[in-house]
Amino acid sequence: MWNENIVEHSQVLTKGNLGCKIGVDMTIPQQLSEQLLSALKNVLGEALPAGFVPAVTASQDLRFGDYQSNAAMVLAKQVKTNPRALATQVTQAMNACEIATLEIAGPGFINFRIRPEYYAARASSMLQDERLGVARTEAPKSLVIDFSAPNVAKPMHVGHIRSTIIGDTLARLARFLGHHVVTDNHIGDWGTQFGMILWGWKNILRQQDLENDPIEALLDVYKKVNSMCKEDEALLPVCKAELVKLQSGDEENLAIWKRCIDVTKTGLEKIYNQLDISFDYWLGESAYNDALAPLVEDLLAKGIAKESEGAVCVFSDGFHKPQEDPFLVQKNGEWVPVPAIIRKADGGFLYATTDLATLDYRTAHFNADSIWYVVGAPQEKHFKQIFDIERMRGVTGDFRHVAFGSILGKDRRPFKTRSGDTVSLQDVIDEAVARATKVIEEKSPDLPAEEKARVARIVGVGAIKFAELSQNRMSDYIFDWDKMLSLSGDTAPYLQNSYVRVRSIFRKIDGQFIATQSITLSDDAEIHLARLLVRYGEVVPSTLDDCRPNLLAAYLYDLARAFHSFYEACPVLKSEGAVRESRLALCELTARVLKQGMGLFGIEMPERM
Ligand code: ARG
Repeated sequence: MWNENIVEHSQVLTKGNLGCKIGVDMTIPQQLSEQLLSALKNVLGEALPAGFVPAVTASQDLRFGDYQSNAAMVLAKQVKTNPRALATQVTQAMNACEIATLEIAGPGFINFRIRPEYYAARASSMLQDERLGVARTEAPKSLVIDFSAPNVAKPMHVGHIRSTIIGDTLARLARFLGHHVVTDNHIGDWGTQFGMILWGWKNILRQQDLENDPIEALLDVYKKVNSMCKEDEALLPVCKAELVKLQSGDEENLAIWKRCIDVTKTGLEKIYNQLDISFDYWLGESAYNDALAPLVEDLLAKGIAKESEGAVCVFSDGFHKPQEDPFLVQKNGEWVPVPAIIRKADGGFLYATTDLATLDYRTAHFNADSIWYVVGAPQEKHFKQIFDIERMRGVTGDFRHVAFGSILGKDRRPFKTRSGDTVSLQDVIDEAVARATKVIEEKSPDLPAEEKARVARIVGVGAIKFAELSQNRMSDYIFDWDKMLSLSGDTAPYLQNSYVRVRSIFRKIDGQFIATQSITLSDDAEIHLARLLVRYGEVVPSTLDDCRPNLLAAYLYDLARAFHSFYEACPVLKSEGAVRESRLALCELTARVLKQGMGLFGIEMPERM
């Protein structure tokens, strides 16, 4: 947009006191935005549009300062003045800014270069704050997060990794920021698969297999009956009859169904435990069975749904432009309806019906004003329709489909085992731990066996999680064992190893360091490390705002790299006096941020590895 040549250095170094707080209750961009606002008020007076909030963002390139604002450009347009002139007046009005020096660049950007003393002061106060500068939200939501949600008698496969890990992280972040969070595992426990399962249970299931590995056993039965149905046409109606019996409350079938759910839950809990993930509720699809018929009647009565070819459907109400209408698709240049079916002609209910009932329940019982669904991108249309039907019913809130792409194998096709099956999540965990064991074995052969096993688990599980969370969730990503377990690059093992390095410094001076408030910064590497440390309080909330864990992941990786550069450039234990204290304090703060930040991902940090 502009280049270095036209950056005008109108540095204003006068020190003064605007009474700004060196607290950690406001981030630097918030402070700058506030100061900009009062400068703009001084300059523009009445002309300043009411409610204007100057945007201050981190600069992409440090050559242009640490933060920048386009406020002068935005406002100049509105009040019809020259943006550079306005920017100049504003920087003059702010010439007592004790946080930063200001420069004007290009057509009227205001660049802020934070004073190292200010970074030092903020870093020092972070040391006294167990939240490390992350403020609690001022507007707590009542948030239900719907994630993981595998289907009973179908495998929890590698694709479920994404929902499970992203959802868990969002829940951790939201709780840490002070929202009221309910996590709900909306498992698929009432699908048509139960027709085959019931027949298979009665005819081919071996109880022994069920005891050994319930999830696999049920899956196996489902697969077998499925292929038997293909060979023997007479079998499918028999399975369907089992399903009808279940749906009409047959006791034997209900009992079998219940057992299927129970053993599946036990199996899933085992996997979740290994991942250190848990749910407040497991309200599966079946929990809403009784609510479906009245819901459909209600939608019919309100005229939101109508009968069409025997089924009950919701059609577009014309609220949106056709391009944005989830009830329309374009075919041969024409917009044709794609209604949401909520009751089939045979009286059966659908996935959409259940989701509408679920949403009702969540708003009524959990008082939810926000509901986030962490579900793959292919269900985009489904959720758009659900949210739009809610709009028609007058139910509004922060309803979000937090979508994500696929996991691919190295061949860029959906990740499969050699035999072409989907990869089970348990196999992924086992392999990650086995591979991490090798890494630890090579790196630290002398660790006691028990610790080795524990660390391998932390590293292996951490590697899977971090590989997921460091991706932009909308893109597909390639599942690459070597990359995710590498000790260099943006991986969990690299970050864990960085933490271990810091901890080893403190082991050498066991007990001799008490974090003081005396951080002073002189070397560039020190300043850069402090710059990143201070940014933690900005990154955590923005990670949740956009549901983009990769922002925090990228930040933590940058922080670890900044630490390594600092450690190479600045002797810590060999330095003396106040410099040594200050550098130790930077080390301590780095360790705390790394540990807390990774903790928000549900990733543990080992003390040694
Ligand atoms: N069981 C569904 C699946 O595996 C995911 C459910 C997501 N949550 C929801 N409320 N629809 O595709």
